Amino acid sequence: MKELRGKDILSSFDFDRETLEHLFEEAETLRKKLSTTHLKIADSKTMATVFLEPSTRTKMSFQMAMLKLGGSVIDFQPESSSFQKGESDLDTMKIIDGYSPDIIVLRQSKPFFPHSIKEEIAAPIINGGDGTNEHPTQALLDVYTIWRELKRVDGLRLGIMGDLKYGRTAPSLSYMLTFFKDVKIYYIAPKELGLREEVKEKIRNKISFVEVERLEDIEEELDALYVTRLQKERFKDPSEYERLKSSYVVNLEALNKLKRIPIIMHPLPRVWELPQEVDSLPQAKYFEQAKNGMYVRAALIKEILGI
Ligand code: CP
Repeated sequence: MKELRGKDILSSFDFDRETLEHLFEEAETLRKKLSTTHLKIADSKTMATVFLEPSTRTKMSFQMAMLKLGGSVIDFQPESSSFQKGESDLDTMKIIDGYSPDIIVLRQSKPFFPHSIKEEIAAPIINGGDGTNEHPTQALLDVYTIWRELKRVDGLRLGIMGDLKYGRTAPSLSYMLTFFKDVKIYYIAPKELGLREEVKEKIRNKISFVEVERLEDIEEELDALYVTRLQKERFKDPSEYERLKSSYVVNLEALNKLKRIPIIMHPLPRVWELPQEVDSLPQAKYFEQAKNGMYVRAALIKEILGI
């Protein structure tokens, strides 16, 4: 098992199978405890949340997890900070780090930004999303959800659908699944939104995968379908976004054409690709998935703090 105490978490490859299984078991224990009480195990510890791109789930679940463990949180708010006067991201991080937080959760739009500053920052950095590159703790809650719902990860047949070109959750989830046995991923996307070559390079020979353009192209029954949003904010040409907008929608009609409806997951937020009519299906797990994030992130905080 990997020692996470004091470590940065920048990529899904910073874990291994044993560490993941330990975190999932810890998340289960914390779920039972934190549903009835707050703990005091992090009472002298502080987390700084530095989100330079919008977030609801990642930021709030990390903050809630830290508070429920008995720790404190300071939140950097770019809109009311000296960021507005032109202070750089690196200077901002150095200043926050100088106040000695025990963990910094960072979201930033530039791929590999946390990797580029980690030597200059004393506090462990958790990558809360670096542009199109990775979102390792999203993968953590995704695999935790699969593990809880299916009672296994080995042998998984997973469809990952949507914007695989600009999305960061598909790469991180794919990397994390390389730690498990006999997993097969179907990447489902129109050609223009296919998985980036650099991501394929990292999983080739480690996991079995197939690329298709439509859900109905998959002959095998899936265990889980992971839908992702078209990343509007990353499109340089708005007309390209408009053109691709209607290229995939996972509605009841599409799901009912499948031999068996798998569990439906989504990192959220959703826009038009997963309509509300799907919410009533027992297989719809995305709200549970978001909730799972708080428990597994609490387990991760506990390990990094060594408490
Ligand atoms: N899934 C996810 O990262 O959501 P937020 O952008 O709201 O944090």
